[in-house]
Amino acid sequence: MDNPPARGLPPLPNVSIDLDSGRLTGASSGYAKRFAELRGVFADDEALTALIEERPEAVAYEVSEWRRSDEAGDLAFGTTVLQPVMVGREFNMTRGHLHRVADRTEMYLGLAGEGALVLTGPDGPSRVVALSRGSVAYVPPWTRHRAVNVGSTEFAFLFCYPADAGQDYDAVERGGGLPIMIVSDGQGGWRAETRSRHLRGAGTVSGRDTGRD
Ligand code: 6PG
Ligand code: NI
Repeated sequence: MDNPPARGLPPLPNVSIDLDSGRLTGASSGYAKRFAELRGVFADDEALTALIEERPEAVAYEVSEWRRSDEAGDLAFGTTVLQPVMVGREFNMTRGHLHRVADRTEMYLGLAGEGALVLTGPDGPSRVVALSRGSVAYVPPWTRHRAVNVGSTEFAFLFCYPADAGQDYDAVERGGGLPIMIVSDGQGGWRAETRSRHLRGAGTVSGRDTGRD
């Protein structure tokens, strides 16, 4: 038989991902996050306000995922697609979170475009992992994480994490935000910089991984 019998099995995903765009079809849920919902996330409030006034509906990123349940032992997976937009000197990025069940881990696979994953451990030190098509990144337990589009095209990645992990956004705020920001280097590239407004509980950038060494 080509297909095993469905009897006795839970619902199975009918999901496909366009590897060139990161767009996922067959999602069980998803959302688009607009810049207008990201006040306080970027360092340059004025630049964000100007962007929102000019394009009130502008989308920063979209998340599509599939999960069967939120139960321990289950998996959630999907894709995030970030638009190539600058907010002042800062590249477009996700809100960033700690998993609500903080020891839950996650893996990312770069699909399209150029990105960076900012990882900040519980005691402060951060690392930045470059992500492009085929690069794999790992989010350890107890690690705040945020994805950044550092390129000039859409940046898309696959994520997969335990379905009971959840996202705690307040924890990032309580910790003073992520301590580093990803900014333009003025020469078409990017660099990590200490986020001066968010020094409470901040750490230092202890290294940069290219994902290739
Ligand atoms: C997760 C993943 C990922 C993330 C999105 C949006 O744990 O769900 O890290 O799917 O949620 O990329 O990022 P924010 O949740 O920080 O907005
Ligand atoms: Ni996560």
